[in-house]
Amino acid sequence: MSAAAAPGAPLALLAELTHRCPLQCPYCSNPINLERASSELTTEEWRRVIVEAADLGALQIHLSGGEPTVRRDLEEIIAASSEEGLYTNLITSAVLLDAERIGRLAEVGLDHVQISFQDNEAGNADRIGGYAGGHEKKQAVAKLVRSVGLPLTVNAVMHRQNLENLDAVIDMAVGLDAERLEVAHVQYYGWALRNRAALMPSRDQLDRATEVVDAARERLAGRLAIDYVVPDYYARRPKACMGGWGRRFLNIDPLGRVLPCHAAATITELEFWSVRDRPLAEIWQSSPAFLRFRGTDWMPEPCRSCDRREIDWGGCRCQALALTGDAANTDPACEKSPLHASMFEMAATESTTAPPDFIYRRIGA
Ligand code: SF4
Ligand code: FES
Repeated sequence: MSAAAAPGAPLALLAELTHRCPLQCPYCSNPINLERASSELTTEEWRRVIVEAADLGALQIHLSGGEPTVRRDLEEIIAASSEEGLYTNLITSAVLLDAERIGRLAEVGLDHVQISFQDNEAGNADRIGGYAGGHEKKQAVAKLVRSVGLPLTVNAVMHRQNLENLDAVIDMAVGLDAERLEVAHVQYYGWALRNRAALMPSRDQLDRATEVVDAARERLAGRLAIDYVVPDYYARRPKACMGGWGRRFLNIDPLGRVLPCHAAATITELEFWSVRDRPLAEIWQSSPAFLRFRGTDWMPEPCRSCDRREIDWGGCRCQALALTGDAANTDPACEKSPLHASMFEMAATESTTAPPDFIYRRIGA
């Protein structure tokens, strides 16, 4: 696919309904400058975007934030998505949900719920999330989700301050009757990049976690599907971030700006078009931000002549920017990058020195 070629339909729309959230996780992927409620897209604007996304051929909508359940119109947004035939997935911290609201969300067509957990142990989980009582609430809500027959994914973000509990986190997911568990090592954008030294696991911790996941996959085959996202800093090859820039996903931020990924706004040279000004199809097909890194024509060496260029699509542009100062550089997670060794060393050093205090995610922090 050349840089200018129009892609096929996006698979999914990631709808960041709000940046408001009662939790303060230090690895939040939201931008450092969080948007306030007054600038968020309205219900009517979301309705229009949902129709446009379905017309464009998207199959799924992931409702996220911040915490999407702070939006009182979540029911209307889910109903509109369902009417358009989109598969609806709610990505939530769960702490604001109760039986009545879960019942209503299921009634209007919600298909799936993904609840994030900070640990299996309440004290540490609440410390990481910066929200007292959150862990207990999440457990109760997970059970309510299953009691109305909705499928559940447990999302466990792992790092140096909870990785020792991975076995117990897996047991917790089984106990909650989840059908899927995402064991996601922190990816270092947004707030996580700020807190990297407090979160980075050591190589030994990572190797042990990989063994735990491999054993659990075997033991729980047919009962719990486990996705595993490894930290780039110890990888030899980068991940195909977002399945390739502008190929499968579009992300709409609370203001209506359409981004190729949740961290794309860190690439300040890019121009993001908004659903407030233009139809979604036009933005997907021809906005400068999507065209900039779509396909392979933009690639420098060593990606340009690499036989993996249509497998990982050059890795992650936001990480390339964060670590090399230029989003067009080869992702340093790739061992062909001249900066790969220093990335690895940085991780090894940070992970073996005492962790600094967390900088918690807050509006205006
Ligand atoms: Fe991927 Fe580029 Fe590395 Fe090849 S050189 S593996 S395309 S990041
Ligand atoms: Fe933006 Fe990877 S997070 S391209």
